[in-house]
Amino acid sequence: MKPLRKAIFPVAGMGTRFLPATKSVPKEMLTVVDRPVIDYAVREAVEAGCDTLIFITGRSKQAIANYFDRSPELENELEEKNKTEALEIVRNIIPSHVNCIYIRQAEPLGLGHAVHCGAPLVHPDEYFAVLLPDDLIDGYQKGALQQMNEVHERTGSSVIALEQVSWDEVSQYGVVAPKNEHQIPIELAGIVEKPKREDAPSNWTVVGRYILNGKIMQLLETTQRGAGGEIQLTDGISELLKTETILGVPFSGKRFDCGSKAGFLEANLHFGLGLLKRGGR
Ligand code: G1P
Repeated sequence: MKPLRKAIFPVAGMGTRFLPATKSVPKEMLTVVDRPVIDYAVREAVEAGCDTLIFITGRSKQAIANYFDRSPELENELEEKNKTEALEIVRNIIPSHVNCIYIRQAEPLGLGHAVHCGAPLVHPDEYFAVLLPDDLIDGYQKGALQQMNEVHERTGSSVIALEQVSWDEVSQYGVVAPKNEHQIPIELAGIVEKPKREDAPSNWTVVGRYILNGKIMQLLETTQRGAGGEIQLTDGISELLKTETILGVPFSGKRFDCGSKAGFLEANLHFGLGLLKRGGR
């Protein structure tokens, strides 16, 4: 089995919940302490071994590409002024062996459509990761994607991150039907996008981390609009489930929903307090 190398980051969303800040700054570039939200997901993917990062972007998202690019003017200036610590930070945003590729999603047709925009770069025989940067995860001991990749390497299956939430919240997420929820990893019997509470098969919900068989790209080509009138990744996964085993991993770590103001604030408090405890300024 080929090692996991490619990761897709859907980052075309408008970020309307964070207006007016997101009028000129992509929501993925809002900072949690001193790093943009997207940086956390990228570091998690690199830690898990990914070296090809595919960003599905939209209009006004150039700041993301600029952030991951080298900045010779800034580096020269820092070097001249002998600001070695700052220089190191700027030079080490991503390791030099990692490549970033940007694809524009012309129309906001949904997460399934965004992932499918990466199809030309994913071979049907290889597994790839999808990370939704809004879900910021502080993994205990190791990153969530690394934890999932260990399960993937052991089993050869597609793997999805899961979290158990209160029944009041299930309608906001993709929800899985577990074959046996007491057996970890949880084998999926089904998956459904944003069901009503009374229709939800369980309260095990999908967190924005996936390791998927490249075959899903072909399935997404014909996936019809689903929940919210959008082409849903969940519906593509449901199709994939008809032909192969998919495992759910309840990762160890804390997730913050940086797509909401409360979650974003909580993430800042969590990482900010961590910094203060370490005596940082
Ligand atoms: C997306 C997925 C959903 C998943 C969620 C995790 O929804 O469609 O299945 O549970 O991310 O954050 P969104 O939050 O983009 O509406």
